[in-house]
Amino acid sequence: MANVEITKVRKCFGNVEVLHEISLSIQTGEFVVLVGPSGCGKSTLLRMVAGLDVPTSGTIAIDSEIVNSMPPKLRGVAMVFQNYALYPHMTVRQNLSFGLKLAKVDSLEIKKRVLESSEILGIQDHLDKKPGQLSGGQKQRVAMGRAMVRQPKVFLFDEPLSNLDAQLRVKMRTELSLLHRRVQATSIYVTHDQVEAMTLADRIAVMYQGKLEQVGKPLELYQNPKTKFVASFIGTPSMNFIEGEILTKLKPPKGSVCGGFRPESTFLSEEGAPAKLFLGKGRVVLVEPLGAMAYVHVSLAGQTVIIEAKSEVFPKNEDPVSVWIDPTKIFFFQDNGNRL
Ligand SMILES: Nc1ncnc2c1ncn2[C@@H]1O[C@H](COP(=O)(O)OP(=O)(O)O)[C@@H](O)[C@H]1O
Ligand SMILES: [Mg+2]
Repeated sequence: MANVEITKVRKCFGNVEVLHEISLSIQTGEFVVLVGPSGCGKSTLLRMVAGLDVPTSGTIAIDSEIVNSMPPKLRGVAMVFQNYALYPHMTVRQNLSFGLKLAKVDSLEIKKRVLESSEILGIQDHLDKKPGQLSGGQKQRVAMGRAMVRQPKVFLFDEPLSNLDAQLRVKMRTELSLLHRRVQATSIYVTHDQVEAMTLADRIAVMYQGKLEQVGKPLELYQNPKTKFVASFIGTPSMNFIEGEILTKLKPPKGSVCGGFRPESTFLSEEGAPAKLFLGKGRVVLVEPLGAMAYVHVSLAGQTVIIEAKSEVFPKNEDPVSVWIDPTKIFFFQDNGNRL
């Protein structure tokens, strides 16, 4: 196992710079999730750690050794892809052993590693099947097994759960968490799904338009977002944002300011602690009941605000409502997106 040090890495394709001076340290045994919208450069960064792409400038070090020009197979990394990338004509056992055979690992050792990892992943009963006979979840377990048998210094995952249906994705996410707790391998995991990031990561690195927006523990990013992008990207439903007089009066800055507050800090009643701030009167446009609570969308001064309502009786569409917020839970952002 090893640490990974990414230092001022830039990547250009032709004249287009898609990654701008990314620096990120990943500690030994740490599970770091790179999260951000499609096209922000996550795969490009991961591929450079894997050695499938070369940085335009900057350095990547694994285990304190700069690997910029080291071929992938010497880096001690193993990558798991979204599309599994299994050999369709080989059995699971052959898929798992193939890389080790190429690397001339002793056949008894191969047998031992294949058995071990297939037991950890719960695919030991499928070793003689071909990928075509497996479900999506099983295929992804084989893909992970193929990475595990190589006993890499660093695991790299590129959206490994994105091809699975929602239910299976949640199940595999839990399994991955447990697996990481057991194996404790240094891992860099790419996803566009912030829930996956929040639930899996020791630390999350939020990327946006080729830059690192913020790096921190999941709850740090949730409770203390440094930019409007991070505030909007982390958390479902997304944070509410209001550009308007009420909020600019609270904290008069130069230029305009945007106030953000999460659905759970927004209320349809003044009752209960702590002292709440009256935001205004609005009209219900949509109610999404989820059982114990509902997301109530309220149109207020030309904008829509989502409120997490916990009362037993939810309002109905078109109901007039008053909206309060917890003033200690308001985030202010400047025009450039930085937190005030
Ligand atoms: N081989 C390539 N040639 C040119 N542009 C590329 C290449 N690979 C990626 N890009 C561009 O780089 C940007 C980042 O892509 P990518 O790393 O795949 O994003 P993500 O994985 O976050 O969705 C995108 O704008 C993409 O079009
Ligand atoms: Mg990608």
